[in-house]
Amino acid sequence: MAIRNIIEMGKDDILRKHSRKVTKFDHRLGVLLDDMADTMYEADGVGLAAPQVGVLKRVVVIDVGEGLIELVNPEILWSEGEVISTEGCLSVPGRRGTVQRPEKVRVHAQDRKGNPIEVEGEGLLAVCLCHELDHLDGVLYVDKMIEDVTDKIEEENE
Ligand code: NI
Repeated sequence: MAIRNIIEMGKDDILRKHSRKVTKFDHRLGVLLDDMADTMYEADGVGLAAPQVGVLKRVVVIDVGEGLIELVNPEILWSEGEVISTEGCLSVPGRRGTVQRPEKVRVHAQDRKGNPIEVEGEGLLAVCLCHELDHLDGVLYVDKMIEDVTDKIEEENE
């Protein structure tokens, strides 16, 4: 287990690249998943995608307070509804912005051993699933941002 360096927007174009599908469910994948979870918790994040630690693989970890979810090769099966909420990203530190996302999503993926899994999320989990899956295609929340609310939130906290 180790904390990996989180790549920030504008410093490396790896965040803008498409990640490759995982085909080997080996020890290295397990180490990557363990390190990503450590890195996410250390940074107080609710999700982290492999490109954010410089690895172009379709791997995501999420924990919105309901336990750790590990997703390998995740794909959205269906989504419904729409909701606008405030997002941040560990690769865009100190910023917050509003984004429209589905209210509910169902995702198909594989676990670290390659077994098929499905995860259904509503609210924060749905937002997080969409946000992290976007990272695998080089998309950042700021690309979809309706409004930058960083300054508004700072005022509220003063
Ligand atoms: Ni992010």
